[in-house]
Amino acid sequence: MATIVIHQIKDWRQLQLENKQKFADKTLGFVPTMGNLHDGHASLLKQSAAENQLTVLSIFVNPTQFDQAKDLEYYPKTLEQDLALAEKLNIDFVFVPTYTELYPDNYNYKISESILSKQFCGQHRPGHFDGMLTVVLKLLLIFRPNRAYFGEKDLQQLNLVQGMTKSFFVETDIIACPTIRDTNGLALSSRNHQLDPDEYELATQFATLLRTKLSDKDIHDSLEWLGFSVDYIQTQGDRRFGAVRIGKVRLIDNVQLLHKTTHHKEGTVA
Ligand code: PAF
Repeated sequence: MATIVIHQIKDWRQLQLENKQKFADKTLGFVPTMGNLHDGHASLLKQSAAENQLTVLSIFVNPTQFDQAKDLEYYPKTLEQDLALAEKLNIDFVFVPTYTELYPDNYNYKISESILSKQFCGQHRPGHFDGMLTVVLKLLLIFRPNRAYFGEKDLQQLNLVQGMTKSFFVETDIIACPTIRDTNGLALSSRNHQLDPDEYELATQFATLLRTKLSDKDIHDSLEWLGFSVDYIQTQGDRRFGAVRIGKVRLIDNVQLLHKTTHHKEGTVA
């Protein structure tokens, strides 16, 4: 079956009404994205397709989670290419809404979390997690999927979404998926596409340094010396988190430190 592209919520509802048989007793997997799909997204889509009978992908560059207008402006937008990938992976539905479709209230109502969302990236991107949580809750309420797939590269995001679904009794299982890296160890990200070849080469040092036995401060200083602007390098339990900027491009990552022994639970921030 060809991928069906939906732009409006009413079209999704209509589709479900007209195809009761097709939806009956089928599990729905959901992969929310901001587009510019790469192999990391492809792995989430493949996992969803393997674990559910139907999969919906959303593509929406969510303005409310950008704290800087320029960052939103430069965010790569490649819809045609993204739809071709969805088709290639046999994804059943792609939702491509407009801002007004998702925010009929113009963001007067929002979701916020008051502890974890203020740490790590939250300290450097005011309002980012409010915007992210708000759009994710809207999408989960529209599709009511059985499972939704999030990458561990954005571990703070993943933990916040898990906390939100628990707090608001959302009956979707939030599935954590491993970070996909290039051969140099750099975590795949749509933002990597904004790097020129020299910057890309430099970016690989970020992933490499995060894994070393150096202290957070020494890694911070080494990265600054190499030309990065560092938002934070912070170890919590056996996991080290970092966010850096190369020019106008912000990169985040987190790695498990095999050389540290702690009681921190794998894959969680808190
Ligand atoms: O991780 C992302 O791409 C975004 O934060 C998400 C989950 C699609 C919400 O806009």
